Order: sequence, then C-alpha cells, then structure tokens
Amino acid sequence: MSSASVREILSGRVAAGTAVTVQGWIKTRRDSKAGLSFLAVSDGSCQDNIQVVAPNTLDNYDTEVLKLTSGCAVRCSGKLVASQGKGQGMEIEGAKVEVVGWVDDPETYPIQPKPHTMEFLREVAHLRPRTNTFGAVARIRHTIAQAIHRYFHEREFFWVNTPIVTASDCEGAGQMFRVSTLDMLNLPRTDKGGIDWSKDFFGKEAYLTVSGQLAVEGYCLALSKVYTFGPTFRAENSNTTRHLAEFWMIEPEIAFADLNDDANLAEDFLKYIFNAVLNERGDDMKFIADRVEKSAITRLEKFISAPFERIDYTQAIDILKKAPKKFDYPVEWGNDLQTEHERYLAEEHIGRPVVVMNYPEQIKSFYMRLNDDEKTVAAMDVLAPGIGEIIGGSQREERLDYLDRRIQQFGLNPDSYQWYRDFRRYGTVPHAGFGLGFERLVVYVCGLTNIRDAIPYPRTPGHAEF
Ligand code: 4AD
Repeated sequence: MSSASVREILSGRVAAGTAVTVQGWIKTRRDSKAGLSFLAVSDGSCQDNIQVVAPNTLDNYDTEVLKLTSGCAVRCSGKLVASQGKGQGMEIEGAKVEVVGWVDDPETYPIQPKPHTMEFLREVAHLRPRTNTFGAVARIRHTIAQAIHRYFHEREFFWVNTPIVTASDCEGAGQMFRVSTLDMLNLPRTDKGGIDWSKDFFGKEAYLTVSGQLAVEGYCLALSKVYTFGPTFRAENSNTTRHLAEFWMIEPEIAFADLNDDANLAEDFLKYIFNAVLNERGDDMKFIADRVEKSAITRLEKFISAPFERIDYTQAIDILKKAPKKFDYPVEWGNDLQTEHERYLAEEHIGRPVVVMNYPEQIKSFYMRLNDDEKTVAAMDVLAPGIGEIIGGSQREERLDYLDRRIQQFGLNPDSYQWYRDFRRYGTVPHAGFGLGFERLVVYVCGLTNIRDAIPYPRTPGHAEF
C-alpha cells in the first residue's frame, strides 16, 4: 500500500487498481441512501480533492465516518478506481477510514464548505489556507519564489543573504522599526569589551532593514551578478491595499551595467516568472480565473507577449497633462507619480507594461545616479496594467564626490555610510539594480485586490496578532 499525494493521483501518476493511502482533511461528506459516504479529501497538494467512497460495512462507519465534518483530519486507504461520477477522474474505494484529528466543535469551525468573504478570512488568517482560494494563492506564491531563484541561478546570479538587522537606512526615508531588547537578555551589565550593554545590545541604534540593496551592492562589486530575496520592513503608517509593514523583496544588482541593462533585466525576469506560473500552476490559475478574477490568465499572457514601452518621466508628465480625464492628484513636473497616474499610463494610454525612466532627482533616493542634466536621476519604475508600479530600480551613483553631495543633500549622517562610500573608493564601476515587492507580484498574478491576501500572516498598522 503506497502513500500518495492527491496531486500525484489526479495527475495520473498512480495506476488504477493500485492500493493507495491518502492523508488529508475532509472538505465535505455526503451520504447516500445506498449506505455509502462520499468524502471529499484535500491534502493541499493541488486545487482538487480526491473522492473517497466509504461503505457502511466499515467497522467505524456509524461511530466515526458518519460523524466526519469539514476540517477533520483523516487517513484513507483503499483501491484507486476510475470514478463513476461524471468528469471526476479517479476515486478511492475506501477499505479503511482512520480519523487522525477531530474538529472539536463543528458549529464554530470558521472554515465551512461555503463561500467566505476575503474580509472574514483575514480575521482567521491562521485557518484560511484551508480554503480553495488561499490554498491556490499559497501554491502560486511558492511557485513564483521557486521560479525567481531558478531564473537567477540559470543566469549565474548569486543569492546573497543580506542582514535583517541593520544600522543603515537604505531608502533614507526614516521608515524603520527600531530593534531593542526587553531585558537585555539578562546579560551581565559589564564594561568588558567597552560595550555599554545597558544602552543597547548592538552598541548603537539598530533597525529592521527596509531593503537589502546597500548591502548587496558590496557583493555585486565583487561577484558581478547577485540578488537578495528576503523579508523587509517599513514603518509607514499607510493603511492601504498596497502596503504591508513586513513584506518580501527581490533585489538583483548587476555590475558594469546602466539603466537600460536594468530595464532589460526587469522585463526578461517578469516574463520568465509569469511563464513559469502559467506552465506549472495551470490548475490553480484556472481556479483563480474562474473564481477570483476572470482575466487572470489572459492578463499574464498579454503581459508576456508585449514588449515593454520605455518613456522618460518628462514624457509621462506630458502625456498625463494631455489626458482626457481628471486626476485626484495634480500632475506637475517634480511631483511623484501616483497610482492613478501610473495606471492611466500603463492601462489606458499605452495598454501594456511601461518603464518610466529618469525621474526628478528631488523625489528619488540618495543613491541614484545623477544624470548629465543635473535635474534627473537614472531611476526607473516598471508600471503594469491593472496595478501600477510593480518594480522600482536605478543605476547607482558610482562617483564618490556625487554620492557625498547626495548624502549631504538628503541630510543623512555620513558616518553611517562610510562602509557604503568604500565601494566608490575601491574599484568603483557603474552598476544598477531593482527591487520587486514579492507580495505586489503575488497580488498581480492572483488578481487579488488587497495585499493582505498575498502573504500568509499580514503585518499592518494595528495587526500582528498571529
Ligand atoms: O521602491 P522601493 O522603496 O525601492 C527600494 O527599496 C530599492 N532599495 C530597491 C532596489 O533598487 N534594490 O521598493 C521596492 C519595491 C516597490 O516597487 C514595491 O513593489 C515594494 O518594494 N514595496 C512594498 N510592498 C509592500 N508593502 C510596502 N510597504 C512596500 N514598499 C515598497
């Protein structure tokens, strides 16, 4: 008797007639007058359930099988047979149904076999992976993550694990969570080693990172092609459908490269990821298209087939000024683009993904390379129809004197950036990179409307209960 996942069985990898065991959770139970119970069992390996047919001749039929409710954990063994039900593929004729875990109070079990609103499911984020939608989102998220690592690995990028605790504010925007200890971990208060433990564990103010970029630049300037992929944190008090306080970011960094190389990488990378999702998660994407967002598959197909448009920020402002619609936020050269502007450009005006390049220097970060016009920096945002900005990147300022000027202009403490200046002092080269918010990508792929549904346990202002 072999144990098989529901995915293995339903994808035809187990021959009819084989004795199999599946382990999973009951989705539904239906009893027939003929003395059979039909159990829909999910093990989360794929979108579909397997049907287990349990006859009333089982020893525990009355005492246990007839008491099974949604959510109970079971181990079912029997013979795999072609289902008699229409379009159902394979089912298991149950010779044995073992209850591994009961649901102690079926009445109050929040995940009932009926549609739930996303708002309700956010309240029970610890149980929502049991629903079809969140099962699909979790598997798609996994597939995207795997495809990201594969993409970079195949192109000889090295994955660098940058620190989560840091003393540098990468974006210089002051949105960092401070790290402190509750009781100094009972460390003896001592002057040994010159560290004043009573002040702070790290001997200086330390924060949760907002981006691994500055740290990964150091590895880029030694290994040429690198990327980070890890959690990042932002203490921005924006309770929106696009912001999380804790999110994952993918940040490639390439040496001997300019902004155009960066835009090429972003385009090739996004198309690879979307292709991988469509190829590897067909069943979940079909479910998403049927139940969450109708155009989920066609949107990705369109994205893959269209070459990205590239325009300058100045051109973008021109287009927006001439737009036949009124925006809530004013369109002025020097103002950052708002989501409504980004969506208009990508969706309505251009109709495909667009890379906006060369933004005014005063609205972008200190590390971006100043262009010859001294008014703009070599920054880019990739805007996608239906969501707006999905990627933000830039060519980095590799000239020490310019970098120093920017650090000063942004009012940053130069002492905190000595190590970062070293990269410009010792063998500096043009280099570029970008950051992609992992959850924004998941939102886009899964056609979600709220970023809180793209991460297992969302962290937002006022929410960290699980
Ligand atoms: O544009 P950002 O702030 O860029 C950086 O952090 C650079 N250091 C990246 C780089 O060049 N290596 O953030 C990058 C991306 C955004 O495009 C967005 O997708 C995502 O991170 N992001 C967020 N996602 C969820 N919640 C938030 N609060 C986010 N803030 C940014």
